[in-house]
Amino acid sequence: MEASELKEKIEQLKRERNAVILAHNYQAGEVQDIADYLGDSLGLSIKASRVDKEVIVFCGVYFMAETAAILAPDKTVLIPDEKARCPMADMIRKSQLEKWKNKNPGSKTVCYVNSTADVKAGCDICCTSSNAIQVVNSLEDREVLFVPDRNLASYVAGKSSKEIIPWNGYCYVHDEIGLEDILEKKRLYPNSEVWVHPECRPEVARLADKVFSTGSMVEEAHRTAKKDILIGTETGIIYRLKKENPEKNFHSLREQAVCRDMKKITLNKVYLALKNMEKKVTVPDEIKEKAGRAIKRMIDISIHNQDG
Ligand code: 13P
Ligand code: SF4
Repeated sequence: MEASELKEKIEQLKRERNAVILAHNYQAGEVQDIADYLGDSLGLSIKASRVDKEVIVFCGVYFMAETAAILAPDKTVLIPDEKARCPMADMIRKSQLEKWKNKNPGSKTVCYVNSTADVKAGCDICCTSSNAIQVVNSLEDREVLFVPDRNLASYVAGKSSKEIIPWNGYCYVHDEIGLEDILEKKRLYPNSEVWVHPECRPEVARLADKVFSTGSMVEEAHRTAKKDILIGTETGIIYRLKKENPEKNFHSLREQAVCRDMKKITLNKVYLALKNMEKKVTVPDEIKEKAGRAIKRMIDISIHNQDG
């Protein structure tokens, strides 16, 4: 089927099913174009908790759809490809977390939202890349076990007086962006500014002008007076940045920074998800309740700080 025909069919099915499409900023352009809401992990979580439709089609990786299912327990959450997972989220298992906690009984546990629901259920509070510093600083305890991203942990440690003990997980897409990528692109665009995601390695984050979640990159792109911006994150976001700011130039720091799992979602799979009402994302009740507590604590802090 042609893309235009697929889009029409998706629109029609959306009305019939009373559905909304939520998509992450890393999705392919054709998927971004059919989304009702496009955002970063925090924005998508907040949106999922407030949706008034019966069905949520989640275009992103599994932990994001799982978070939506936890925050919208009376909705049907569909993921167009259930094999779209975040490899970093799978770098810590519940049993490993429990062992680690037992060895460090005096610490609080903070889990990056890029984690499985049962790992979230074992943590005190969740965070995303846009609120990790706020979340860690909100804790009264000094010692914090941070899972699973070592690079985000290092970034937060540099901005907080807490003692952050990191799990050794990482995102292969961001971890492969190197100093040489910045130096090479800076030679090509000497007046540019460098924005990177906090999942990048510490030396890369230190050399960057700004360290942003994908949502903050989108906001700053509207505000900045800079003409050339070098982007150190998954390349899918460039489509949105260019579309919303045609007068500015956004260049990827590393063109190979592609998340294979994010790209498993296609227009055709979105159509099939709505047509067949598949694949439904479910979370066992006990995990849903405990993980929900950790996620809601984070959302309360984020919303409170936005309001304030
Ligand atoms: P954001 O929350 O900044 O969109 O990041 C999600 C993610 O998976 C980064 O790799
Ligand atoms: Fe996971 Fe990295 Fe893909 Fe984000 S870009 S979903 S952290 S693998």
